[in-house]
Amino acid sequence: MGEAIRIFDTTLRDGEQSPGCSMNLKEKLTLARQLTRLGVDVIEAGFPIASEGDFEAVRAIAEEIRGPVICGLARTPEVDVERAARALESAEKTRIHTFIATSDIHLEHKLRMTREQVIDEVGRAVTQARGYTDDVEFSAEDATRSDRDYLVQVFSVALEAGASTLNVPDTVGYTTPGEYAELVRYLIAEIPGSGAATFSVHCHNDLGLAVANSLAAVEAGARQVECTVNGIGERAGNTSLEEMVMAVRTRPDVYAEVELGINAAEIYPSSRLLSSVTGVQVQPNKAIVGDNAFAHEAGIHQDGVLKAAITYEIMTPASIGRASNELVLGKHSGRHAFRDRLDELGLDVDGDEFERAFKRFKDLADAKKVIYNEDIEAIAADSVTATEDRFELLELTITSGNALAPKATVSLAVDGDAKDTVASGVGPVDAIFKAIAELTQTPSELIRYQVHAVTAGLDAQGEVTVTIEEEGRRVIGNGVHEDVMVASGKAYVNAINKLEWHRLRHEVNEPKGI
Ligand code: KIV
Ligand code: ZN
Repeated sequence: MGEAIRIFDTTLRDGEQSPGCSMNLKEKLTLARQLTRLGVDVIEAGFPIASEGDFEAVRAIAEEIRGPVICGLARTPEVDVERAARALESAEKTRIHTFIATSDIHLEHKLRMTREQVIDEVGRAVTQARGYTDDVEFSAEDATRSDRDYLVQVFSVALEAGASTLNVPDTVGYTTPGEYAELVRYLIAEIPGSGAATFSVHCHNDLGLAVANSLAAVEAGARQVECTVNGIGERAGNTSLEEMVMAVRTRPDVYAEVELGINAAEIYPSSRLLSSVTGVQVQPNKAIVGDNAFAHEAGIHQDGVLKAAITYEIMTPASIGRASNELVLGKHSGRHAFRDRLDELGLDVDGDEFERAFKRFKDLADAKKVIYNEDIEAIAADSVTATEDRFELLELTITSGNALAPKATVSLAVDGDAKDTVASGVGPVDAIFKAIAELTQTPSELIRYQVHAVTAGLDAQGEVTVTIEEEGRRVIGNGVHEDVMVASGKAYVNAINKLEWHRLRHEVNEPKGI
């Protein structure tokens, strides 16, 4: 038995900081349930001081989720730490994660503090956090560009004040595997009493090295890795959870000294769920979870795989829960079959949302011969996000063609009241968007419009992703339907609902500088 490595999942905090990946409370809860099935050790649920929305999401996750430790992020000021503690009050297992930058670059240009002042802050914040919980993590932001001996001093103070996890972030994705491993070894060797702490690593992917750096740090003695599903996160993202886990699992000969408590069969469902909730798809060649990750194109490879999969396959799709394109249900399938399939896919859809999803499934089964797992996931994501929205697409009719000016008649529920309008446009999508913009009175600007097929086949559902922006805030909306025009309308309404959510719940205390 190797030593356990903790997987600290920050999809809901650092991941949410990636452009377009912001999630509302319900979406965060749905993902937190999936992360629990995945078996992560710690869920960093958010940054409670950042906004009311973040506070509420952390509180809801703390109230409901049992199993993983629930963590809230806080800068060092008293009010931040207190806010995190309040949000985490009802968690079964609580962690407060406090951080401050330690590089001279950040001290001089961002914090305008001296090294001594930062050390005082660390001692004070960790002591305060320990007043609320025994489980305190301290991060030295921009550790990889900090002076090593100063880092030793800062971490020593955090440890003495009661932090049990010491995190060494590569905040700007600057380090390299050899250098990072050496830093971790140095810290473990030089910090007095370091054996009492768990060393943690948190890598950003600016140079595409986040996973390699995290693995190197594990070989050097780190025992917690911070990562995100699909590698989402600030800028180029964070260490990808699925790549990290599968590297350790696929090479037990190299990583013989460590082991992970992750349920790998939940990796693919987690990746799919995140993509449907945020509308951000992974690139086709993304390791482990991309569309092409297990697709063998060259004849010589196909021939080899048919003779013996081991020739070109180092892991199986099934090991990450990817039973590709399995035909699951058809038009004769009833409620029970639908419910069983949702459960098997780990999708929580209950009450009104279940009814809505079941109706969509029946409509789809009428229009399309075969229903795949991907179809069910898309329907579930659509139904789960719909219930707390201000606007809902009720009906949409298009007239369009090469001899007609495109015209859209759209009916929306606005705060529960049905409203309709007609608009013309350059093309049918333009007409739909103009009608919706008029009914929702949105001042937002359309930045990007994308369509992709959820599965193979001419009768596949279309998934439309719309990026819109208002006052510098960008959100992504998603819509799925067998009719691409309806999917477009749903995606646009979904994006406007997300902007509404931010306008009403998410606009205070936005912290700068992480
Ligand atoms: O990248 C970073 O330094 C962070 C810290 C808050 C851990 O996200
Ligand atoms: Zn980060």
